[in-house]
Amino acid sequence: MRIVVCESPDQVAMVAADESIEYLGLACSSSSQSQETSVLGLATGSTPLGLYQQWIKRHRAGEISFRNIVSFNLDEYCGVPPEDPQSYHYFMQENLFKHIDILPLNTHIPKTDCQDLPASAEAYEIAIAQAGGIDLQILGIGTEGHIGFNELGSSLSSATRVKTLTSKTRQDNARFFASMDQVPKMAITMGLGTIMNARAILLLATGVHKADTIRDTVEGPVTAMVPASILQFHPNATVVIDQAAASKLAHLDYYLECERNQQSL
Ligand code: F6R
Repeated sequence: MRIVVCESPDQVAMVAADESIEYLGLACSSSSQSQETSVLGLATGSTPLGLYQQWIKRHRAGEISFRNIVSFNLDEYCGVPPEDPQSYHYFMQENLFKHIDILPLNTHIPKTDCQDLPASAEAYEIAIAQAGGIDLQILGIGTEGHIGFNELGSSLSSATRVKTLTSKTRQDNARFFASMDQVPKMAITMGLGTIMNARAILLLATGVHKADTIRDTVEGPVTAMVPASILQFHPNATVVIDQAAASKLAHLDYYLECERNQQSL
């Protein structure tokens, strides 16, 4: 795992924007701008908002384009229709899609407004494979180490499926709802196996409330009790965090030295 420690959440967003733009060849002026489609995995929640604002700003400045991007979001709540302001469909529309030039037909979010949720999850997994798999997956992380909604105990090789949210996740996400009763109990989420199949991963975390889970993810044993720890097995996973989220890492000095040495190559 590559660990990049930034001075502030703003710098996390900037580094994540630079890394993703380069990896996906989004820059309009770049000779590396791909005419081929790239597949981008997206997350919701508070953490990626700074990155999305960076993308929007650079798109408005004419620097980057999402014309050749196909996107797949990690997850969607069950029981929240797409037009509901609490849905992840609505979140993505408001916070990213309507501000950039991605083609609406190229955006995908798990469908939960249907009768057969397991079939919908299965169809989503197939759609990702048919698109050629995910090139770059953006991730946030829950305070108990979930990625997507792969809660503790998730199979380390799971596919997209319906998952029950833990009470901690429901409490953490209650800030977006009028009352705890309204926080959904289930979601369709990409699995840990789905995420691990991505060719590259960018996990973002900010704030001292993420420090324990970042330590467990990066330095703890690989265990389904900290689902994000599976990323230790990924050959191309980068963790971009601010100093607060990095504050409990035992080997912080070493990670900083690795970055300095990489930049001198
Ligand atoms: C969101 C998602 C979740 C969040 C995580 C962190 O699509 O899959 O795993 O990334 O719950 O949420 P925030 O960023 O709000 O702390």
